[in-house]
Amino acid sequence: MINIQKILDDIAKEMANETDRGKVADYIPQLAHVDPNQFGIAVATPDGQVYTAGDAGTLFSIQSISKVFTLTIGLGKLGNALWTHVGREPSGDPFNSIMMLEHESGRPRNPFINAGAIAVVDAIMMGHEPKETLGEILQFVRFIADDDSISFDHKVAASEMAHKDRNASLAYFMKSFGRLKHDVDKVLGTYFHQCSIAMNCQQLAQAGLFLVSNGINEHTGVRVINAQRSRRINSLMMMCGHYDGSGEFAYRVGLPGKSGVGGGILTIAPGEGSIAVWSPGLDHIGNSKLGTKALELFVQETGWSVF
Ligand code: DON
Repeated sequence: MINIQKILDDIAKEMANETDRGKVADYIPQLAHVDPNQFGIAVATPDGQVYTAGDAGTLFSIQSISKVFTLTIGLGKLGNALWTHVGREPSGDPFNSIMMLEHESGRPRNPFINAGAIAVVDAIMMGHEPKETLGEILQFVRFIADDDSISFDHKVAASEMAHKDRNASLAYFMKSFGRLKHDVDKVLGTYFHQCSIAMNCQQLAQAGLFLVSNGINEHTGVRVINAQRSRRINSLMMMCGHYDGSGEFAYRVGLPGKSGVGGGILTIAPGEGSIAVWSPGLDHIGNSKLGTKALELFVQETGWSVF
């Protein structure tokens, strides 16, 4: 029998002693204030248990992890038609790259790079105002995490809006190909708020549970999506969830995962559990340095790899 709590406690202890913690993202100034000496980890299992260690109760900005949730909403609303807006191939380029858009008629490679997530948000707006779409996104996240206290961090969203140049470039470039239907500032405002959602490791692990059990959140007993869609979202997380670091993450951890520049990573071990880690310092690609290391240790101890 695996003692998950002991494994988490040991990992948290080891991470507390790490000196090489990576670099906190500062291109969103509000994130630059976060103390890099933090580390949290939580595991939610289908039987309803949640195991935590370290700073698992501290809120952080989920950033790109939110793209898993908007992808799920997008597939729910548009079905396979979503793939006319965005592809499903790894890009091998940084998360904020513009390069491939020019060669591929403004259609982003996948829903997890910034351009792809902006295209997904435009697709799910369907003529509605940002406020309505954001209400829908927040309601969905609260529903899958079974926690109504989850909310946006408006300061982080405003900070990103004030430094929007790169994402605005991506959006206008896509719009020039006729790819975006809505006003660029409204799409960006929605996207930045989606990224600003604040959650802790415990809430995030619970939010991932539906991807552990073929679309059913076994804890609440609710089917969120069908089994095929759940498998497909996991495959996208595996292939594209860490941008140009996806191969390295698959090699080291061997699980579907999605990172965010806030330092969080949501990882799914199908049939076993959902693992959320957080440590704000990032590697050169923009993925949590200690988060990845902790997951590597966790998988070694539990054998919870898909390989
Ligand atoms: O658009 C951005 O740049 C951020 N809101 C999200 C990027 C991100 O999280 C990349 N992840 N590692």
